[in-house]
Amino acid sequence: MKLPYIEPYKIKMVESIDQSTPEMRKKWIEEASFNLFKLKSNQVMIDLITDSGTGAMSDKQWAEIMLGDESYAGSSSFFKLEKTVKTLTGFKHFIPTHQGRAAENVLFSALVSKEDLIPGNSHFDTTKGHIEYRNATAVDCTVNEAFDLEDNYPFKGNINLQKLEKTLQKYPGKIPFVLLTVTCNSNGGQPVSIENMRDIRMLCDQYGVGFFIDGARFAENAYFIKIREKEFANHSIKQIVKEMFSLADGMTMSAKKDGIVNMGGFIAMNDSELYKNCSTFTIMYEGFVTYGGMSGRDMGALAQGLIEGTTFEYLESRIQQINYLGDRLVEFKVPVLKPFGGHAIYIDAVKFVPDIPKEEYRAQSLAIELYIVAGIRGVEIGTLLADRDPKTRENRFPKLEMVRLAIPRRTYTLSQMEYVAVALKNIYDTRKEAKRGYEIDWEAPIMRHFTVKLKKK
Ligand code: F0G
Repeated sequence: MKLPYIEPYKIKMVESIDQSTPEMRKKWIEEASFNLFKLKSNQVMIDLITDSGTGAMSDKQWAEIMLGDESYAGSSSFFKLEKTVKTLTGFKHFIPTHQGRAAENVLFSALVSKEDLIPGNSHFDTTKGHIEYRNATAVDCTVNEAFDLEDNYPFKGNINLQKLEKTLQKYPGKIPFVLLTVTCNSNGGQPVSIENMRDIRMLCDQYGVGFFIDGARFAENAYFIKIREKEFANHSIKQIVKEMFSLADGMTMSAKKDGIVNMGGFIAMNDSELYKNCSTFTIMYEGFVTYGGMSGRDMGALAQGLIEGTTFEYLESRIQQINYLGDRLVEFKVPVLKPFGGHAIYIDAVKFVPDIPKEEYRAQSLAIELYIVAGIRGVEIGTLLADRDPKTRENRFPKLEMVRLAIPRRTYTLSQMEYVAVALKNIYDTRKEAKRGYEIDWEAPIMRHFTVKLKKK
């Protein structure tokens, strides 16, 4: 018999989980205006709201915390991190930032002007927010396969080259760069192939525009390339990572994901002028260029996290855990996005609660139910997140309405995944009763899903 996979680590320290009952959670979610972001963490039993900054650091990362050099300028922790990032990505310049959206803010301050267009696969919400805040437009050129939840296409994060070329042709001088998010979070944590990246590079060269990667989950993307793209089957993860970044001009990074740290980010690029420009914005917004909003100790932990996060053994175990949850849900007939993503399982709320009208926030309704029944906190990836059109102020109804269950790195066990699967099965078996959702009581003008207040319909 084939031996099952095991996690390539053992647990040295544990954190207790506060137990609660459905009655307690019903009261808490009402007090939180039916917004899961407003819950206190001790009101949650299994927290799958994000995989961002919620992973477990290793003993070696904690050792780096003790070695941190907190010098304002020229910290040795900075040089450790700089060397690691340059070796891993091959980019010539590196600037730390306090998290991913800060990296976006600095890079876009240097590159994005009013009325520009930034084509890419589906942009993450903070990325889109930083683009729209500058009165520019994010253009989604994702492949059509991505919008069919049942389609098993292996690289649903890919850009449709015709859509991209049309945009490049139509708006000469208005496109500073193409932005590729790997893996593509907004489309279900789906990977992008090297083949697609090579084609994007060619188009960018042809039309004289830059090519940047949002690399929050670059290591998970490299893992999928290794197992799904034949040419790279025998490459190491680190070789694939190098190949991916060799095709781009630079990157933004939320290190809270594949860097396996609680806080951090960076920008890396080849162009020296751009580096100088970004350095100025970094000093204004983040801090001096040898810390950029990060503590020395955090830079050390990140350097170590990047090394651990790009090993095959670690990635294999991470993806196996996601697959375990996904496979159980499929067995229970719960409708989920396929193939499973690299950092999360996405539940198809349209199929799950078809009787709730789309104007009543179906995916949010399902996420609230999952919280009340089992204390599991997921996040809505649907109409609330899609927000209003900045010009017409109308609700944008996205093609996909999902609840994302993001799995923190090295944090939960398989029995906790089993608990999540069974909770969803139980809700699925009684779903016919769900007919009404929620309406908005109050919302912010931008990125409303974080602070929105809802009322029961
Ligand atoms: N890009 C991607 C693809 C992301 O998923 C995120 C964050 C960011 C950029 C912004 O990075 O949070 O460090 O400022 N995603 C988190 C999530 C919040 O839950 O998916 P940040």
